[in-house]
Amino acid sequence: MSTPSPVTPLDSRAVTAREFRDVIGRFATGVTVITTEHDGVRYGSTASAVSSLTDDPPMLLVCLNRNSATAAAVRDSGAFAVNVLAEDHVDLATRFASRVPDKYEGVPTEAASNGSPLLVGAIAHLICRVAEQVEAGTHYVFLAHVEEAMSYPGHPLAYFRGRFGRMETAPEASVLREVRARVLDAGSDVEEVIDTARWAEEFGIDAGRVHRALVALADEGLIRRQSGEYLITPVPDSIIDEVYKAKLAIETGVAELTVGHTTSEQLVRLRELMEDTLGFVKDGRFTDPEGWVRANERFHEYMVELAGSAILLDTYRRLCLPGLNLRALDTASYASSSLLDDHRRLVEGYEAGDLTQVLAVLLQHAQRPLEMRREDRLRRTADANPVG
Ligand SMILES: Cc1cc2nc3c(=O)[nH]c(=O)nc-3n(C[C@H](O)[C@H](O)[C@H](O)COP(=O)(O)O)c2cc1C
Repeated sequence: MSTPSPVTPLDSRAVTAREFRDVIGRFATGVTVITTEHDGVRYGSTASAVSSLTDDPPMLLVCLNRNSATAAAVRDSGAFAVNVLAEDHVDLATRFASRVPDKYEGVPTEAASNGSPLLVGAIAHLICRVAEQVEAGTHYVFLAHVEEAMSYPGHPLAYFRGRFGRMETAPEASVLREVRARVLDAGSDVEEVIDTARWAEEFGIDAGRVHRALVALADEGLIRRQSGEYLITPVPDSIIDEVYKAKLAIETGVAELTVGHTTSEQLVRLRELMEDTLGFVKDGRFTDPEGWVRANERFHEYMVELAGSAILLDTYRRLCLPGLNLRALDTASYASSSLLDDHRRLVEGYEAGDLTQVLAVLLQHAQRPLEMRREDRLRRTADANPVG
């Protein structure tokens, strides 16, 4: 008996060209210009279908449409250069993807050792000699030896779903921790434009690393980005009110779709996540505000996940509730044990398939943050003005 092919598709549904383009467009790439010279004429084409092939010997491959003038010139000359574009090279990428008569007009170049033009300002140049060319449908695949490779400082241009963009390097965990702690220490009623250069100096690191951490914190909702600046903003009651209304709308919608339609495994998981939240409130305080925020996030997000809609989950995440809560809460904040009772009653409602109970609890639960804030203020005022 023959072994089944390991590449037997699970789902062999035909994929249209349009579907394929849409899906493969999610594979983000850098952007290059493939340049060559043949019979005294310079050619160049923007290309993202470039891949490293082997490092010993150094080889790469480039896929060029057979209609492309550059493809014909590479085929005939047997040589080309890969110019890796920098993030501010959208104009070059567009120019070399067009059919303008002279793509090189006004573009500074130098000649590579194999005669191909090198675009000045690219962040890398790879000088290549074609080893093999394969015809694949509408395209040639050129397999090439890399004869020389040069790199320069700079950040790459990115291409994702048909649009140009920038690649962000993930911030280092240690820098992110420090910058986040600094933002949280600011308290919830402070308004401050973050002075990146000063923070960098104080942390003893370069400003780029602080900047990458700020980008991540803005995505999380801990700080705001406005006209190129990063701001620590107060968290007024009005924002909490607005965000919690949106949260309630999503959660009640999800409850209507899911209560009574969950599997027993989902209910077990929901209960586990609810129980994980229980240890964080004690004697009217959060024992560990960040721990609470994270456990609470996992529990609530799981409820939303039950609806089975990635779009809904994404919308919910855009409310940036964890960031908002981290800014609003600290170890001195008043924490009501009703939060935990709500969580218990929510899960009981889900387990009983009781939509009315779940909706009622969600409504009360959405009012807790403002109730707790009011109580918190009263307690702080009373502590500051003790009677007697
Ligand atoms: C971001 C981007 C990536 C591209 N990638 C490729 C590619 O990998 N292969 C290709 O044949 N064409 C690609 N193109 C299209 C060519 O750049 C375009 O057809 C160009 O006009 C060809 O020029 P030529 O005929 O002068 O060689 C890309 C275009 C853009 C904007």
